[in-house]
Amino acid sequence: MPRGLDVGSSKPQRGISVNDFSAGFLGSSASEIPPLVRPPFVTGASKDGSTSPAGEQTVTEPIPFRTTVVAEPEPEREPDPDPGDTETTAEIGATGRPFPVLPEPQPLTTHGNARIISMCNQKGGVGKTTTTINLGASLAEYGRKVLLVDFDPQGSLSVGLGLNPHDMEASIYNLLMDRETSLDDVIVPTVVPGMDLLPSNIDLSAAEVQLVHEVAREQTLQRVLAPAISKYDVILIDCQPSLGLLTVNALTASDSVIVPLECEYFALRGVALLKTTIDKVRERLNPKLKIEGVLGTMYDGRTLHSREVMERLVQAWGDTVFHTVIRRTIKFSDSTVAGEPITTYASTSSGADSYRSLAKEVLARCLDA
Ligand SMILES: Nc1ncnc2c1ncn2[C@@H]1O[C@H](COP(=O)(O)OP(=O)(O)OP(=O)(O)O)[C@@H](O)[C@H]1O
Ligand SMILES: [Mg+2]
Repeated sequence: MPRGLDVGSSKPQRGISVNDFSAGFLGSSASEIPPLVRPPFVTGASKDGSTSPAGEQTVTEPIPFRTTVVAEPEPEREPDPDPGDTETTAEIGATGRPFPVLPEPQPLTTHGNARIISMCNQKGGVGKTTTTINLGASLAEYGRKVLLVDFDPQGSLSVGLGLNPHDMEASIYNLLMDRETSLDDVIVPTVVPGMDLLPSNIDLSAAEVQLVHEVAREQTLQRVLAPAISKYDVILIDCQPSLGLLTVNALTASDSVIVPLECEYFALRGVALLKTTIDKVRERLNPKLKIEGVLGTMYDGRTLHSREVMERLVQAWGDTVFHTVIRRTIKFSDSTVAGEPITTYASTSSGADSYRSLAKEVLARCLDA
């Protein structure tokens, strides 16, 4: 876990307000993850600190990486390890740790008692929606009944599953704001058998404003999702890229959080703030909330940068970091255009296999545990 995090005031506080979060967002005292300390160069440096020419520098890597820099990478090459291999060998994974043997998920005979997991990161474009769609589809392939909740007014999850945002009879907005609307009025099936969707569109942005005046405004999503828990095995909530009231609602409704993190240095910034928000929600609204895992996305094992960021992530978060990493591939954008998960659009691709591997890890960590 990151050190030196300010988890907010230790004074007892009554309730929680949106202002608490927005104040934290604007002026948090939470320290960021300290900058990456590069391993020392073995150089011909003189005592006055001058170094020998760059070509003579050797970088030592404290964590042995399985892949080495490829001199002339092919643009579409995906050096994804075959998960079949990783299950039988103790190969070092992309996180620099031995990749564990992940148990093969067993089919369920009964469904229900859903675990609710939010995909959360206030940074935009890190793979929250992509992870929600493809983790959900992979869990459904393993026989789990899955409900995806689009909790972002951008409606990307709904669009990514082929829905037209202007052509929805009812959305999650109606469910939140109108007590006459029931879950069954809003839930729609998806192209994936066993996976349903609570869609959203821009109307949801109005809910964020209107909820401010509601009693127990942070518990609204928890209340409307309660009847779904007995029907599904897992409910995945796709959060918007902010730490506002909608995200606080998602965290309050959830058992745990998955934090997708792009393997890019700037992505490390702001993680301390997210951790602070999660800690505040746990303290004041939802004691059971835990961080299920941190997921490295858009990883490119051919670059030293991606590997350094992954190394830094493991230093800061330890075993919270999933062994599975999601590599960068254009197939994700292609499948979004096609309006379906990569597991059906390019079923045998390494991207699909990565999300199946993540599904196995999630099942082993919390669902089948
Ligand atoms: N592993 C990947 N490799 C390449 N492209 C990816 C990968 N994962 C996601 N993308 C692409 O990156 C873009 C952003 O991904 P996505 O929408 O999942 O992020 P997000 O965190 O949900 O964004 P937002 O914060 O705006 O909701 C999309 O175009 C998606 O297709
Ligand atoms: Mg999104």
